[in-house]
Amino acid sequence: MHKNKKLLIAANWKMTPPTVNEARRKALLFKGIAKRYLKAPKAKASLQVLVCPPYPFISELRTVFKNSPALVGAQDVSEHDGGSKTGEVASTMLQSLGVSHVVVGHSERRAVGDTDEMIAVKLGQVIRTKTQVILCVGESIRDEEGEYLNVVKAQLKASLARLSNADFSRVVIAYEPVWAIGRDDNMALSGHDLHQMVIYIRKMLRDLYNDSIATATKILYGGSVTPDNAEDIIWNGEVDGLLIGRASFEADSYEAICKAIALPTHSSMIMREATMRKMKTIKNNKSRPSVDKSKEKVLKGMKRVKKGTRKIRVARAKKTKQK
Ligand code: PGA
Repeated sequence: MHKNKKLLIAANWKMTPPTVNEARRKALLFKGIAKRYLKAPKAKASLQVLVCPPYPFISELRTVFKNSPALVGAQDVSEHDGGSKTGEVASTMLQSLGVSHVVVGHSERRAVGDTDEMIAVKLGQVIRTKTQVILCVGESIRDEEGEYLNVVKAQLKASLARLSNADFSRVVIAYEPVWAIGRDDNMALSGHDLHQMVIYIRKMLRDLYNDSIATATKILYGGSVTPDNAEDIIWNGEVDGLLIGRASFEADSYEAICKAIALPTHSSMIMREATMRKMKTIKNNKSRPSVDKSKEKVLKGMKRVKKGTRKIRVARAKKTKQK
C-alpha cells in the first residue's frame, strides 16, 4: 500500500440503531470523523468514511452528510429492477437516494439464501445503476488442505462472471472469512495471513482478467476488526480498507480504529517497513507469487501454528503430571 493512499473505512451498521433519531445522532458523530480523517495532520493515510445503515435511515444520513466527505451505502439490494416484488429495494431506488456503494453477498445474506448466482445478478444491477459495489467473499472454515482458497476462488468466479473489464472500476472486493465475523478481536485474521489472501485474490484477478484490474481493484478486510487489530490488518495485510460491523455501531470505537490506522505507532511502522522491503525484493526479482506459492505459504504458516499449539499442549501435559 502506498503512503497517502485513500483507504475506504466502511461501517456496516447491520440492523442498528433502533430508531431514526438515534441514527441521526450517530450520523452527526460520523460526519465529524469523516472531516477529521480525510486529511488528518501527520496521517499516514487519508480515510474515506462510508456508512451503510439499514434502508429506512439512508435518506436521513444523506441529509446529515450533506457538504461533508462522508458517504452513505446500502447493505443489500434486490435482484429485480422493479415491479410486484413486495419488500424488495431496487438499485435504481438506491441510486436516486445518492447511495455511493452497495454491499452484496454479505455472509449474513448468504446465510438466508443468497446464492452466488443471485449475487452475480445483484452485482450487475448495482453496476448498471453506476454505483460502486462491495462484493463480500470468504470461506466458512479454514481447512488444513487449503480448500478454503478454492472456496474463495469459486465465489469470485461465479459473482464476477458477467462483468466486462470496464465494469471493474465499480467493484470493491471485501474479503470476510465467515469464521472471523462477530467474534472476539483475536479471531480476526492477522495482517500476515491476510496478506497471503490478498496476494491470492490479486493473482486470481490477474488470471481471470488482467494485470491492471488485479492491481487497481480495491480489497477490503472484514471480520472482528477492532481498534486493537486494525493497525496490523491495514499496514501488514496490505488491504485498501475495512468493512467493520460491531465496532462501527458506536462512533467512539469506529474513530479509535481510524486513529489506529491513520496515526500508527512506531512499532507497527517498523513492521510495515519490513513488509515493504520484502515486497521490493519480490518486485526486483520480477517473481510474482503464484497461486501455488501463496497456497504453499499459507499451508506452511498453518503447519507452524499447529506445531506451536502441539508444543504448548505437551508442555502443559508435563506440568500437570509434575503436579
Ligand atoms: P464484525 O462484522 O466486524 O462484527 O465481525 C463484520 C461484517 O459483518 O461485515
